[in-house]
Amino acid sequence: MQLLKERIRRDGIVREGGVLKVDSFLNHQMDIDLFEEIGKEFHRRFEGEEVTKILTIEASGIGIACITARYFQVPVVFAKKNKTKNIAGDVYTSRVESFTHGRVYDIMVSKDFLGKGDKVLLIDDFLANGKALEGLAQLVEDAGAELTGAGIVIEKGFQRGGDAIRGRGIHLESLAIIDSMDAASGTITFRER
Ligand code: G4P
Repeated sequence: MQLLKERIRRDGIVREGGVLKVDSFLNHQMDIDLFEEIGKEFHRRFEGEEVTKILTIEASGIGIACITARYFQVPVVFAKKNKTKNIAGDVYTSRVESFTHGRVYDIMVSKDFLGKGDKVLLIDDFLANGKALEGLAQLVEDAGAELTGAGIVIEKGFQRGGDAIRGRGIHLESLAIIDSMDAASGTITFRER
């Protein structure tokens, strides 16, 4: 997605350790005009596939998922990062070991909002090692729902997540895939599709 790549080049800041800061337009301040284009593009890329629900993870995925959902005309469910394990009601839970954040956490979704018959599109802002996406896919499986695919705004192609997800046969669409980044020069190289 050309518009997105241009925006990353213009406003993205490359940090040491392979971290890209995009918080001026994607995951802190949010450019809703850009989100509209992102939502439209996800809809185009999953055209002809059945989606009854969009599933994302708090916090940064929620805004993108909501705008995308307008194009699919389906509800959004976001997995909560669990701090209160004993919440009322039945939930599906999955454990995520995030290398990026250096921590392990549980994610959960109420059984009321995900179940048999759902055809689920996963949406998130970043794909790095893929643990968040794998955790979401696990929730879908546990719920007996069907995974239609996953839409990612920025895939860090030099980390293992993309290969792992594609290797599982999941239809993965990343709008910008970064092959390399250099903190000293600020250079970002994108993969051509
Ligand atoms: P992991 O296994 O290393 O955690 O990789 P994964 O693909 O699961 O990473 C997803 C989480 O890591 C996301 O946060 C994402 O925002 C964050 N992340 C990974 N790489 C980068 C990066 O280069 N820049 C930024 N800004 N974030 C990155 P999350 O779990 O969805 O939490 P939240 O940040 O939305 O609260």
